[in-house]
Amino acid sequence: MLIAVANQKGGVAKTTTTICLGGLLTPRGTCLLVDLDPQGDLTLGLGFNIPDKKPSCYEVITEKASAASAIVSTKSGLNLLPAEITLAKGETEILTQVGNFYILKEKLESITVNYSYILIDCPPSLGLLTVNALAAADTVLIPVQCQFFALKGLASLLDTIATVQKRLNPQLKILGVLPTMAENTIMTQDVLASLRKRQPSLTIFEPVPKSVKFSEANLAGEPIHSYSKEDKLIKPYQKLADFITNLARN
Ligand SMILES: Nc1ncnc2c1ncn2[C@@H]1O[C@H](COP(=O)(O)OP(=O)(O)OP(=O)(O)O)[C@@H](O)[C@H]1O
Ligand SMILES: [Mg+2]
Repeated sequence: MLIAVANQKGGVAKTTTTICLGGLLTPRGTCLLVDLDPQGDLTLGLGFNIPDKKPSCYEVITEKASAASAIVSTKSGLNLLPAEITLAKGETEILTQVGNFYILKEKLESITVNYSYILIDCPPSLGLLTVNALAAADTVLIPVQCQFFALKGLASLLDTIATVQKRLNPQLKILGVLPTMAENTIMTQDVLASLRKRQPSLTIFEPVPKSVKFSEANLAGEPIHSYSKEDKLIKPYQKLADFITNLARN
């Protein structure tokens, strides 16, 4: 099952969600995390530095290396296709290529049999890299920050997903929306209520509470469940992992 974790809005917990879910899904079946963001936050967040001459997502997307040759195992035992800033150059290099929406799909095709779950951490844009992720994915998970302006960008993301479904990937489904950084405030309640009202057909998962523990876990290069024992922080991701596991079984 190939899941794109996407939202063009920055800082909504795409990378954190990819790490936390990856950590929970790995014991349930082989799992690969793909860093498709030139910021390389997923790679750094898992404590991995790409050694000189080792291929990364840049070499994969520009077809200089196979996906298999770029995959590494991180210190917390997760399989990672890492990225760094060179990937920004890669996105420009493939701009004029014929069929450039399908490069990631093509490159992952030979390795998908090796993994039960592949999670793609998308960059905060609706550019070519995100479209490549959507063209390759079975389903999209949309983290949305429980903030006043959070819903503004959701409509354009849903439009892009609809266009990808129409033109590039008719099988693409929306897994659902994951509200993140939820607080015990009226604003969080308002955001959740208007999300349900405006998007009644979307699955809205249990909100992830706001906590500094997530930043600390990122710094430590660990998923939240191995960093903190606080049930209320771990549970939303656990429930989401259960949902994904059940879906993959059926
Ligand atoms: N539930 C949470 N509570 C508090 N802070 C969080 C939570 N989840 C993530 N964060 C923090 O918020 C910041 C942004 O998270 P993250 O990098 O995962 O977002 P992103 O959507 O991947 O960002 P970008 O769009 O830049 O890729 C990070 O510092 C992260 O540690
Ligand atoms: Mg990120």
